[in-house]
Amino acid sequence: MHFRSRVTWSLLLSLISLGIVADAADSGIIEVDLLFPRNETYAPTEWMPFVFSIRNGELSKHLNPFLRYRGWNTSDLGAHGFTFRNEKLKFANWSSQNPYFVYNFRNDLQSEGTWWLDWEFYFLSCNEDFTSVLDPGAPVFLNNTFRRITFTIKEGGQPVDLVAATANDKTCSEQNIAAINVTGKTQDAPLSGDELPDDICAVVGSPEPSAIPCQVKVDSAVAASMTASLRDRLCDPLRTIDRPDDCPEDSAAMRLAVAGVACLAAAVGMLGFFA
Ligand SMILES: *[C@@H]1O[C@H](CO)[C@@H](O)[C@H](O)[C@H]1NC(C)=O
Ligand SMILES: *[C@@H]1O[C@H](CO)[C@@H](O)[C@H](O)[C@H]1NC(C)=O
Ligand SMILES: *[C@@H]1O[C@H](CO)[C@@H](O)[C@H](O)[C@H]1NC(C)=O
Ligand SMILES: *[C@@H]1O[C@H](CO)[C@@H](O)[C@H](O)[C@H]1NC(C)=O
Ligand SMILES: *[C@@H]1O[C@H](CO)[C@@H](O)[C@H](O)[C@H]1NC(C)=O
Repeated sequence: MHFRSRVTWSLLLSLISLGIVADAADSGIIEVDLLFPRNETYAPTEWMPFVFSIRNGELSKHLNPFLRYRGWNTSDLGAHGFTFRNEKLKFANWSSQNPYFVYNFRNDLQSEGTWWLDWEFYFLSCNEDFTSVLDPGAPVFLNNTFRRITFTIKEGGQPVDLVAATANDKTCSEQNIAAINVTGKTQDAPLSGDELPDDICAVVGSPEPSAIPCQVKVDSAVAASMTASLRDRLCDPLRTIDRPDDCPEDSAAMRLAVAGVACLAAAVGMLGFFA
């Protein structure tokens, strides 16, 4: 039975048996890593990267996931900070790359300071035991993993270098990684539409599995494509502020540059986003 109407969260009143389909292709561990920044001190840089990777991301296609981070100035008790929320993950082409890199750059971190960086991975899953509205418990869960690291911006700190930072496997803690144990998917979904495309919902085991952080590296090709995508955005002909002086002005050159970046970005399967 399919429940096709555009239900809202408050109208989960369908009488269905979710049932679980356990299939090797639909189960496994998703690992979400905060690759950068780490618990380190960095020299101020114009565009500070925030980089995550998602391993086995293909398993999250029924989780409708999103990533969020917030930064808190440790000196003013969080009165000032920054935040970002990435909703585009639901459109990710997971099969294009594993691990899948998610990143953005921000230019509001150029002065000295120490920051808490709280990051969360949100995901939907279904209660496989749910059979009817008379059952106790919710048919759908929205869970999140919460982690916090600390980083410092200070003159004389190490230069921001994604390749060097991620080559070091000693600078992470359990706060740099989150893992989700996907055990299967349901045969039906208690709500459809944007929340659970294809009327399929994932089933997730708890407790959260342990995982080893600092395993994913950013190599120079991936780092270069991230920088190229930043430059592409900054050089957007429609952009009038903060445009680098050396952007290609010729429209043919521009189109070629854009095409090159698009190819590279597609080749490494990345999803960039901006502050
Ligand atoms: C972060 O680094 C500092 C200085 O190296 C260290 O004292 C602290 O224990 C580290 N914190 C974590 C959570 O790893
Ligand atoms: C953090 O807060 C302190 C205390 O209010 C302030 O002096 C400092 O400028 C802030 N740092 C940044 C980077 O905004
Ligand atoms: C997803 O990526 C794969 C591998 O790069 C590619 O073959 C496929 O066409 C892409 N799918 C879409 C919908 O873009
Ligand atoms: C998700 O949240 C529900 C309700 O709080 C909880 O019962 C379940 O164990 C959580 N699942 C995971 C994987 O944390
Ligand atoms: C994932 O969950 C399944 C079912 O609860 C369990 O058998 C398995 O051991 C879990 N895997 C990990 C790595 O925790």
